[in-house]
Amino acid sequence: MTKSSRLAGFYKHSPQKRVEFLRQFADLTAQEADALSGVAGLGVTQADHMIENVVGVFGLPLGIATNFLINGQDYLIPMAIEEPSVVAGASFAARLARDGGGFRTSSDDPVMIGQVQVLDVDDPWAARFELLAAKERILALANEQDPVIVNLGGGARDLEVRVLEHSPVGPMLAVHLLYDALDAMGANTVNTAAEAIAPLIAEISGGRTLLRILSNLADRRLARAKAVVPIASLAHGEFSGEQVAQGIVEAWAFAVADPYRAATHNKGIMNGVDSVLIATGNDWRAIEAGVHSYAARSGRYTSLSTWQVDKHGGLVGTLELPMAVGIVGGATRVHPTAKAALKLLGVKTARELAEVIAAVGLAQNLAALRALSSEGIQLGHMKLHARQLAIAAGAEGEMVDRVVQTMITKKAIRLDRAEAILNKLAADA
Ligand code: MEV
Repeated sequence: MTKSSRLAGFYKHSPQKRVEFLRQFADLTAQEADALSGVAGLGVTQADHMIENVVGVFGLPLGIATNFLINGQDYLIPMAIEEPSVVAGASFAARLARDGGGFRTSSDDPVMIGQVQVLDVDDPWAARFELLAAKERILALANEQDPVIVNLGGGARDLEVRVLEHSPVGPMLAVHLLYDALDAMGANTVNTAAEAIAPLIAEISGGRTLLRILSNLADRRLARAKAVVPIASLAHGEFSGEQVAQGIVEAWAFAVADPYRAATHNKGIMNGVDSVLIATGNDWRAIEAGVHSYAARSGRYTSLSTWQVDKHGGLVGTLELPMAVGIVGGATRVHPTAKAALKLLGVKTARELAEVIAAVGLAQNLAALRALSSEGIQLGHMKLHARQLAIAAGAEGEMVDRVVQTMITKKAIRLDRAEAILNKLAADA
């Protein structure tokens, strides 16, 4: 069978049929397919081992975004999200990007930052000097904590010392341990290493260490995606490709210039990012914190993406964001649905997952800007809503599209109208 993710009409199938397709696409076992479909998945016993005071498990819709071509490889993207239009938007934008050869991505080594706070230092600059002079000793101590990751090629990479001259309690040091977490998100390993080196840091600096914790501003662990959409692919309805491309660039410029718009612009990106993070069992709060602080790194909150029309007439989008994700450790290997979602994605490294997520974020941004700068997003929402109503009214197969179309044309999207239209179509047939 073909491994293409370009699946026209995937949305028209039943959930059972879609899962059957996934089984074949990714060689899933029956158990893995059950974990994706919700037949099996996280049970209360397992949940009880994950957090405290468990009473049950919480469900979310799991959808599959189609059409993603990333660095020449096809991906089907699992997305866990309650909001309509997101999965459809990602799939649609991935099809547009596919017309231009798909997404290209890159990423940094998975280097996390562990912070050690040092207070009561008499001369912060002299303490900084001494700490950097003792760098090798400190890194060696950090590496003693997890020989497994060190043997695999990860571990402590570097030390940085920042002097924070003005804080509400006076000057302090922020010692940064740069740590390659390989395929883990890294929180546990980095926190352990930060705690282990703190006494030595106190001794060398002559100060008092307090917090020892990783930073979620994972700006050494960035993922990037780029897409070039042929202008002709953007044309739709009354809008020419040029008009849509210009609208997207102008919409992006609004986000660059205005934090109020940038918040919503970036929220659209995070619709895609978070839903893959949740589906793969990753810590989406950590990524949210990192992404928004990264968006404000210049001192003013701004867009995470860029959109330009290039001289060859293509619409070029790029996205860069911190992406501390893991494919080992945490819920990624405990939660049965997350495990199956990772298998469906077929990612071999945390970096590959980070890059796929960057591509999904860029796709989501494209879908939102395209809709907002042309017909608005409500039409798409209403179409999806109309579909749900048509199905609720009892429509099946091609009747669904006919009921939807009639409701949209008549601008009456309600369950009673769906029922009446369905009855009339059935009577006419
Ligand atoms: C809605 O969840 C996301 C959007 O508001 C994003 C945007 O405005 O760019 C549509």
